[in-house]
Amino acid sequence: MIKKNIRPTAIALALSVSSAFASECDPGEVVAKLSHVTGGTTHPKVVAANALADRVNKEMNGKLCIEVFPSSTLFGDSKELEALLLGDVQILAPSLSKFGSYTRKYGVFDLPFMFKDMDAAIRFTNSDAGKDLLNAMNNVGFVGLGYWMSGMKYFSANKALALPTDAKGLKFRVQSSDVAKAMIAAMGGSPQPMAFKEVYGALQTGVVDGQENTWSNIYTKKFFEVQDSVTETSHQLLAYLFMTSSEFLDGLTPEVRAQFLKIANEVTQTANQNVKAKELSNRANILKSGGKINVLTAEQRAKWVEAMKPVWKKFENDIGAELIKTAAGA
Ligand code: SIN
Repeated sequence: MIKKNIRPTAIALALSVSSAFASECDPGEVVAKLSHVTGGTTHPKVVAANALADRVNKEMNGKLCIEVFPSSTLFGDSKELEALLLGDVQILAPSLSKFGSYTRKYGVFDLPFMFKDMDAAIRFTNSDAGKDLLNAMNNVGFVGLGYWMSGMKYFSANKALALPTDAKGLKFRVQSSDVAKAMIAAMGGSPQPMAFKEVYGALQTGVVDGQENTWSNIYTKKFFEVQDSVTETSHQLLAYLFMTSSEFLDGLTPEVRAQFLKIANEVTQTANQNVKAKELSNRANILKSGGKINVLTAEQRAKWVEAMKPVWKKFENDIGAELIKTAAGA
């Protein structure tokens, strides 16, 4: 049965697009399209998105059906949030760095060297402050279902970067985050915001000299092939807001909604437990495929931390000193 408060145009589009992508959904089922920008088979977001679809499609057969569109095949970075509000897609998992036009609070996840590792980030997201942030955009119509971890981030470039000063004068692709832009500026580099699907081409053609990402993105999108090396800076977290719209969620019957939310929560817990292993195996995959990784000494790492300190001060008012303190203490 199709819910009345899902727009007919969105449903028509969902059904027509789904048939073009080998749909498993039966006619008449409520179809939720899940769009994301990552690819490959070993990427944490690919694994989480597919696990969600597998469980929903099996356990909620006849009530709800999820179709997954990876690698920006349905929507890329620039359009997906708008598409969610228009009802053209129902589930997303964008990087927390891509919400600057809706909330400044998520800047807390972007502050360089905020989290020592992913475990610290998970502790913060499980805190009251972290859970509250899931609701930071309820006024817009976005509903946070959970955080999907992706990994810590590392800088790659067309030269080795032992110290932040090595980045002076280089152009770095960044996500659409003011914190990321300020971070590159603090290194003396030039930040170039760009959609994820354009990064490989931009590195290959020299439009940018470097970028920052997780092992899984650097491996599955082959960035290491068009970069001299990756420096193991671990300077920032990459995590996703696993999200839907209030329009979609409110349109489900209470029973269907409760079952969907239960599965969503269980998939999130499992996915986050497996991320570290995925990241390490993709680090190994980079080395096996001929990529180079620079490991920093403790002294070199301290220089990176020092160089980024002014970025925290710059965003303290936007993010809130209390929230920053809570995240830093996680
Ligand atoms: C993603 O992992 O979803 C994309 C991250 C990026 O834009 O660098």
